[in-house]
Amino acid sequence: MSIKIAIVGAGSGYMPGVIRGLLHRAADLAGAELAFHDVHREHLALMARLATAMFAARGADFTVTSHTELKPTLDGASYVFTTFRPGGMAARHLDESIPLKYGVVGQETAGPGGFLMACRSVPVLLRIAELADPDAWIVNYTNPTNIVTDAVLRYRPGTRIIGLCDQHVGDTEMWAELLGLPAAGLEADWIGLNHATWAERVRLHGEPLDLPALLADLEIPGGGATPWRDPSRMAELARALGLLPNSYAKYYFFHDEVVRELRAKGTTRAQDISAMLPGYYASLAAEAAKPDPDPSRERGGGEHGEFAVDVICALHRDEDRRMIVNIRNDGAISSLDDDAVVEVPARIGRKGPLRSAMGPLPLPVRGLTQAIWTYERLAADAAATGDRRTALQALMAHPFVRDKHTAERILHEGLAAHRDHLPQFAR
Ligand code: G6P
Ligand code: MN
Repeated sequence: MSIKIAIVGAGSGYMPGVIRGLLHRAADLAGAELAFHDVHREHLALMARLATAMFAARGADFTVTSHTELKPTLDGASYVFTTFRPGGMAARHLDESIPLKYGVVGQETAGPGGFLMACRSVPVLLRIAELADPDAWIVNYTNPTNIVTDAVLRYRPGTRIIGLCDQHVGDTEMWAELLGLPAAGLEADWIGLNHATWAERVRLHGEPLDLPALLADLEIPGGGATPWRDPSRMAELARALGLLPNSYAKYYFFHDEVVRELRAKGTTRAQDISAMLPGYYASLAAEAAKPDPDPSRERGGGEHGEFAVDVICALHRDEDRRMIVNIRNDGAISSLDDDAVVEVPARIGRKGPLRSAMGPLPLPVRGLTQAIWTYERLAADAAATGDRRTALQALMAHPFVRDKHTAERILHEGLAAHRDHLPQFAR
């Protein structure tokens, strides 16, 4: 049975990885129509060209269509893969720089930067949920993925949505390296909230490992930090907390130090990426013209694209495959509300994700995770309704902020800076 897969944000720099993911599963999705959507016409046309060339070179049976309107993109689609950044890098720069002025970590998904991003993402996802076929699965990468998922589940009840993040893939690899274990075959039970997950149980080829013993021997490596790897801080946290933390944990446990570093650095991650994007897109355009394109892996490399395509395949082919996803809690984590959106391992098949009971959150991070959850729930409500008091409550609940004056200042400046993207707050 041939299917239609909509890809919203198909002009994204992450698309080469998604195209590779699709190629990887071409036999399982044979005959599919891939409906590419983006508001950036040039990037959309470029990715359509690149995908068509790569599919032709490898004999993959896909048809690519291109759209700038949502309705024709979503009509008849069984899977809607969302992977866009509303407002692009310009908006991301504001998210990353405004909180820093007030002494708070400026980050795309964590803290007030993530709150502002949620305010831009949620209305678009609510609209997509409204326009998509009622039976369609929304497979969402648009950040903050769990806040978006929570808003869609509650404000468009009945929608089928799974929130994705590939962080656990890179993090598991990093931990394999730090613990001196082979990356293939290492499996961790990451549980918690997106970008705030923790693992106390790890297995190698299915055999449970003694994590306390491994951590007792763990040496703290010096330096080696990149934008996505900070092994020294991660090792420090693992030793202190007695568990494996997600890479984003450094923003919580080294908050003030990170603020100083970000300020000293002088440019935001958005600015750094913006500086490389023109050359990157030019290189993709050059590849698209070749008979067998091999596009750069500079953006969204690793497992990013494959993971999303694998989730779609698991749903479509009823694979009953273990994957770490963002879904309604319903008892998976005993120390969070049933209607919280959590990141947990689940088995994915045609009926959707099947969660199992993972027990409570580890005590050393339980209160922190519950506080982040409280913030996320308020953020989803503020983003969906445009209620300013709820927005203030969200920032006051966030562990980075708390201080009322700081929350007010960031909110005031952030909502004004993004007003063109935030019609819900105009009322
Ligand atoms: C990680 C996170 C994603 C985030 C991405 C940003 O993969 O899990 O949620 O979107 O980093 O990467 P970038 O290279 O754009 O800073
Ligand atoms: Mn992520």
